[in-house]
Amino acid sequence: MGIQRIESVTYAIDDLGVCVRFFDDFGLSLVERSDEHAVFVTRTAQTLHLDTVPSPSLPAPVEDGPTLREVVWGVDTPQELERLVTAAGRDREVRESADGVHHTVDETGFGVGLTMARPAPAPVAPRPANTLGSVTRWNTALEPITRVRPLRMCHVALNIPKEGREAAVGFYTDRLGFRPTDVVEPMGVFMQAPGDDDQHTMLLCHRPDKAGVNHIAYEVPGFDDVIEGGNHMIEHGWREARRLGRHTIGSNVFRFLHAPCGGRVEYAADMDRADEKYGTRVHETTPPHHIWALRTNRDQEAPTAS
Ligand SMILES: [Fe+2]
Repeated sequence: MGIQRIESVTYAIDDLGVCVRFFDDFGLSLVERSDEHAVFVTRTAQTLHLDTVPSPSLPAPVEDGPTLREVVWGVDTPQELERLVTAAGRDREVRESADGVHHTVDETGFGVGLTMARPAPAPVAPRPANTLGSVTRWNTALEPITRVRPLRMCHVALNIPKEGREAAVGFYTDRLGFRPTDVVEPMGVFMQAPGDDDQHTMLLCHRPDKAGVNHIAYEVPGFDDVIEGGNHMIEHGWREARRLGRHTIGSNVFRFLHAPCGGRVEYAADMDRADEKYGTRVHETTPPHHIWALRTNRDQEAPTAS
């Protein structure tokens, strides 16, 4: 099989206190904190590392300011791990650290790690929902979720330069076994890890034509979590980057926030699942960004219906 999921990510940051407050408000669990770094976990035991003094063994940052420095991918078996380390190391150094992570760099300059996947179970009970002919909630009212807890980092989106984009994608598809699901020629390539069901585990986006972190998405159980999570962040002073909507590619319901560690974070729910029957779809033009996004005209003066 091969890569199953994002296992950990590392950001190099300026202000540890602000970043810790951000991810605490976002709903991750703090498991380690010193003067220089902090570590959070998702409910499925992926780790997010925030370092003010990043390891000198990391590749140079691809952009100025706080940013993502490394994504470590979790692999299902030692044999697959060895195979991927060999494939990645055909033309570049791969260094193993004491914790068993194999570190290298992709074509753009982002750190790439490979290690064994160690998922923790996170049982999810979908909220009972009612519609005509399908009723699962009797004699009870829904209550607020109040504290949203992301289940997992479900995808990472990286910006890459236009020039050399085929090679940038090729590193992930030819060496690491990712499968392109949607190729949007003017924008980027959505890819699925072999052990993931989501329509995309990764996006390499060349539209801004420069390297940098675009966003990391965190799956939450449902729409209420996306809405309540975003509201909670706004109430705590964080800035929304994209209001509630549902994407066209992947169909996920989303809400984005600017992140002090660089780029943005996304609350995501209800993404399409895809298996090998979902071939690579090539789009010559960029599909609309979303199926729907919230609109309101309540603050306008006397709108006239047409
Ligand atoms: Fe996303």
